Amino acid sequence: MTRAKRVPGEWGALKADVVLSKGQVEERAKHLLAQMNLKEKVRQMSGDTPLVSGVAWLFVGYNRRPIPAGENRRLSIPGIRFSDGPRGVVVYRSTCFPVSMARGASWDIELEERIGDAMGVEARSQGANLLGNVCINVLRHPAWGRAQETYGEDPFHLGEMGAASVRGVQRHIMACVKHYAANSIENARFRVDVRMNERTLREVYSPHFKRCVDEGAAVVMSAYNKVNGHYCGHNRHLLRDILKSEWGFQGFVVSDFMWGIRSAGAAAAGLDLEMPFTVHFGKKLVKLVREGKFPEDVVDEAVLRILRQKIRFAQAGESERYNPQAVVSAAHKALAREAAQKSMVLLKNERTGGDDHRVLPIDVARVKRLAVIGKLAAVPNIGDTGSSMVRPPYVVTPLVGLRRTAPEDCRITYNDGKNTGRAVDAARGADTVVVIVGNTRKDEGEYLFHRSGDRDALTLKPRDEALILRIAAANPKTVVVLMGGSAVVTESWREKVPAVLMAWYPGMEGGNALADILFGKVSPSAKLPCSFPRSESQLPFFDKRAKSIEYGYFHGYRLMDKEGHEPAFPFGFGLSYTTFAYRDLRLDGTEIPTDGTLRVSVDVTNTGGVAGEEVVQLYVGYEGSQVERCLKELKGFAKVHLAPGETKPVVFALPARRLAYYDEQRANWVIEPITYTVYVGPSSRAQELLSAQFSVGG
Ligand code: BGC
Repeated sequence: MTRAKRVPGEWGALKADVVLSKGQVEERAKHLLAQMNLKEKVRQMSGDTPLVSGVAWLFVGYNRRPIPAGENRRLSIPGIRFSDGPRGVVVYRSTCFPVSMARGASWDIELEERIGDAMGVEARSQGANLLGNVCINVLRHPAWGRAQETYGEDPFHLGEMGAASVRGVQRHIMACVKHYAANSIENARFRVDVRMNERTLREVYSPHFKRCVDEGAAVVMSAYNKVNGHYCGHNRHLLRDILKSEWGFQGFVVSDFMWGIRSAGAAAAGLDLEMPFTVHFGKKLVKLVREGKFPEDVVDEAVLRILRQKIRFAQAGESERYNPQAVVSAAHKALAREAAQKSMVLLKNERTGGDDHRVLPIDVARVKRLAVIGKLAAVPNIGDTGSSMVRPPYVVTPLVGLRRTAPEDCRITYNDGKNTGRAVDAARGADTVVVIVGNTRKDEGEYLFHRSGDRDALTLKPRDEALILRIAAANPKTVVVLMGGSAVVTESWREKVPAVLMAWYPGMEGGNALADILFGKVSPSAKLPCSFPRSESQLPFFDKRAKSIEYGYFHGYRLMDKEGHEPAFPFGFGLSYTTFAYRDLRLDGTEIPTDGTLRVSVDVTNTGGVAGEEVVQLYVGYEGSQVERCLKELKGFAKVHLAPGETKPVVFALPARRLAYYDEQRANWVIEPITYTVYVGPSSRAQELLSAQFSVGG
């Protein structure tokens, strides 16, 4: 296995003996800046890779090594060394975790922080000091080709998951939060103008970025697309007005790669680092400054931002943790398995015929012949092969995982499903059938060389749907395992099968985790981070070829609530092998001040026979608002582990500021003195939620 050696003395002159205060970091950054000439300063602001290497990347593989920028040997200032994420570290061979959408389904902040920590260690052990792992774009429509790289459709959930990842990674290196903003159509990403009003931008498409900035994220990557007429890398409103001025972001902004910016003017708009090559900055920027056409102050500001983070992260980490053995270590493999176990969503699990048992978990006392059907059971299927491709040393396929885990007296037969007749025969001869179907890197992903990209249909391929129907007709005990990066429309076959499990792209340990779930070693605990619609008509308009598109205020469960649509599986929904009861919703008051915080508690009991984890969700609705608002919006969530029969109180802190809307006229946030309804329960489905009301006083 080829691995980079850790760069000796990697932080050069920046490493201090003691941890520096914010003021000292600032002082050192200014001191370094003062020693640089114009050329040196501008060199801090772009990639060090010669343009011709881009051609080489096409042959040897993009992103195999950290991508350098802004090294200054004279002053011993180390370069940035970028590696991508988000399902692991893309350089060399690293641990491949489940994709972000899957991890979003875990709703497990603590787990995501541990995964971030592992990625930070692996990245630094392999020579990187900046990781592009925090992809938090809103999944506005599940056809988005890179849906798998984000955590879901809800800004609050995205913010919490992203912030957890920032915390984990930044114990070791800088984390990059991307793609700011509204990057959610893949095929048209280089040109589409995403139009939206200011309120939608502030409330739906950017609050999760602010959440990560508040968490201390060092780097933000601008998106390729335009927002309201300006490319995001040139968007002064996004970069200067909102990110840097209003939110007080102290880090630097990096362009998305290759076509992320179009001219040196991006620097004036607030873009600090051009990656991965020097195309628009470099000599051109130096010339503009020399000719008096570009203010040197702007260059100084960008360089200060970059230096500040370099110095800050020179202090980070525990050097003994970074070494080749830390990469794909036993602990990280176990973490990848745990993440996959906690991210598979059980969507349906019924009894068949006169059975008193549900189909899952597979009852090994009775199931002696298990048929596994479908091509995807026997091939590695870990997601896209674009910029987010991780190269793990191995991938446990579902078939291998099931064979390893099944008891000796349970015989597993495999059929790839290509010949339906034979697959049906295999199904007939089995006690239970597991059909594994779904999407692969060919169906969705980054749109490169006219391959992959956005999905044209949300349904499975017709041949997969036909296979499910034929198998289910031959054997009523048919479990469908779906793979893919986001929602699948299941209308034509859902009612015909008793069990459905969404496995996403589950990472290198996915097959083991799938077997753990199917055989009941672990109870499923994940919940959907995006709505699964009945049909595309329940979703906002999507056009993968759009030149311009309007993003409205509503999408996902918010839109379905507004339109009164019943999805196939709602946002936040997921079953377990046990059951939970919610009782006694309590508020610690009926009115809070605008700067106050409401405490909301509920008792959750495990009413079933096995231990399990439950994702408890808190939504808020608005009564009599001045503006149109969502019927309810997610404002809190927590994961709780419960033994059979155990009850635990789950407590949420709900600050009043979380209830504000953005008033465009006043250009400010407004917390209305109205009545609010708190809903708490196991999913966004209204019938399952307990509710109570409170108001906010002046
Ligand atoms: C992607 C980014 C990625 C960058 C570097 C771009 O094509 O859009 O998400 O971080 O490449 O690999």
